[in-house]
Amino acid sequence: MNRRSLLKGLMASTAIIALDNSYSTAFKADSLLVSPANARPTPTNNLPIPPLLEGKMTGGVRVYDLNLQKGLTEFIPGKKTKTLGINQDYLGPTIRMVDGEKIRLNVRNGIGETTTMHWHGLHLPAKADGGPHQTIKAGETWSPEWTVKQNAATYWYHPHLMHKTGLHAYQGMAGAIIVEDKHASALPLPSSYGVDDIPIVLQDKVFDRQWNMTYVSGMHDKMMGIKGNVLLVNGAIEPLLTATTQKVRLRLLNGSNARTYTLGFADNTAFDMIASDGSLLPRPVRLKRITLSPAERAEIVVDVSGLGNSSLTLKSFGFNSATSPTGNGGMRRGSGMMGGGGMMGDDKRQFTAMTIKAAPELKPSPALPRTLLSLPQLQEKDASKTRTFEMGMVMGPMVMMGRVKHPLTINGKAMDINRIDERVRLGDTEIWEISNPSGVAHPFHIHDIQFQILDRNGRKPPASEHGLKDTVLLYPGETVRIIAKFEDYADPDRPYMYHCHILEHEDWGMMGQFTVQRDI
Ligand code: C2O
Ligand code: CU
Ligand code: CU
Repeated sequence: MNRRSLLKGLMASTAIIALDNSYSTAFKADSLLVSPANARPTPTNNLPIPPLLEGKMTGGVRVYDLNLQKGLTEFIPGKKTKTLGINQDYLGPTIRMVDGEKIRLNVRNGIGETTTMHWHGLHLPAKADGGPHQTIKAGETWSPEWTVKQNAATYWYHPHLMHKTGLHAYQGMAGAIIVEDKHASALPLPSSYGVDDIPIVLQDKVFDRQWNMTYVSGMHDKMMGIKGNVLLVNGAIEPLLTATTQKVRLRLLNGSNARTYTLGFADNTAFDMIASDGSLLPRPVRLKRITLSPAERAEIVVDVSGLGNSSLTLKSFGFNSATSPTGNGGMRRGSGMMGGGGMMGDDKRQFTAMTIKAAPELKPSPALPRTLLSLPQLQEKDASKTRTFEMGMVMGPMVMMGRVKHPLTINGKAMDINRIDERVRLGDTEIWEISNPSGVAHPFHIHDIQFQILDRNGRKPPASEHGLKDTVLLYPGETVRIIAKFEDYADPDRPYMYHCHILEHEDWGMMGQFTVQRDI
């Protein structure tokens, strides 16, 4: 390298750092950013309901057609934003699946570059998973098939290409999946799609003044994850839902790249949580606030019968990373990880998500059942082994200058697509002990299985975590033990993923691979 190019290189890296700094300052000050106040809902800003994709039965197989496409979306009138979507300009349809049915999904890639499509939370053969190994080239169609074996709940789908999951999902390729089963369908729960049973996809985006969506602009975004200045609800800003029934079931999906929300109603109206990521809860749980980290789902039922002419405002109250449901054990306030009176992963930013009004006449809804699902608890004694996973995150100036090769790891290793990290024997029940010694909360997700949380820092999880899960938020300093059975599908060559669901962390190395095999 000659002196001139060295100098140039130095200047370039300085420029990047400066950009990082100005970006994060701007972010805090909001000076460069669009205020959601510029985009107040108009009376016609109704909550968009994603189309329902039910598929077509052909020869005993239910077939769904998904077209990944480029789009233009008006998030505010008159401003067109480049987006990606599935069968439409932004986001995708809600796919309805029925437990026990054989299905095939034809995924056509029309976005002009390679991507993948992953079925988050679904139990399926590794070759159908849509992870980084099942790439779909531009113009190609990928058609995975399997038989749905799943509890009724809300799942979702999004791309999963190596290093590009964050970018592709961020641009709009994501949608909800509703799985139905006989048991849940027989319960008196609101279940008329788009009427009293509604998917709510929450995503925050960074918009610039021209309403372009901007993505990672430097090291700060990669380390803290991309956090937006606008909150979209099914692609709309502060939309309005007019309820026509006494009870409304909202299937909340945090489809954001990095932001964790603590959601609730502005006036503290209580609601009933009825389902977690992968199943109904044993019984409804009455709550005023619910924390959802990226990829987590919660179904809630809200009663609007007493609303009259007033309205309910669903808000995000930010995120306090010292609020682990069992009382945070590890990191103390006042330790070195803090800046300015809070943990560095704390988020003070509040958003109005949406408003709910009640129509003058409301159709009656039945009372919620007292019990929803009897879920056998997997027993520790049935576990053949415990595996440990440590979420590693190195921070500091060396990272910001790009001098640390792998600041984001699991068990000290950054993701390597050519390395199988763990091999699980088919049919085994295992305990995975996941710890987070870092100062930032990380949502840990495992493909293929649904798990039960045994404990958080040795304490039993709260009732809202008594259902099946595929993603669990690890607060700073926490150790969480989960238990699951790995069954039905073995493939010694094709792995499933486990990773942090802050997509920038996943893309940057906080991911590993496991196979399920007959013999190990
Ligand atoms: Cu939501 Cu590995 O994915
Ligand atoms: Cu997944
Ligand atoms: Cu993370």
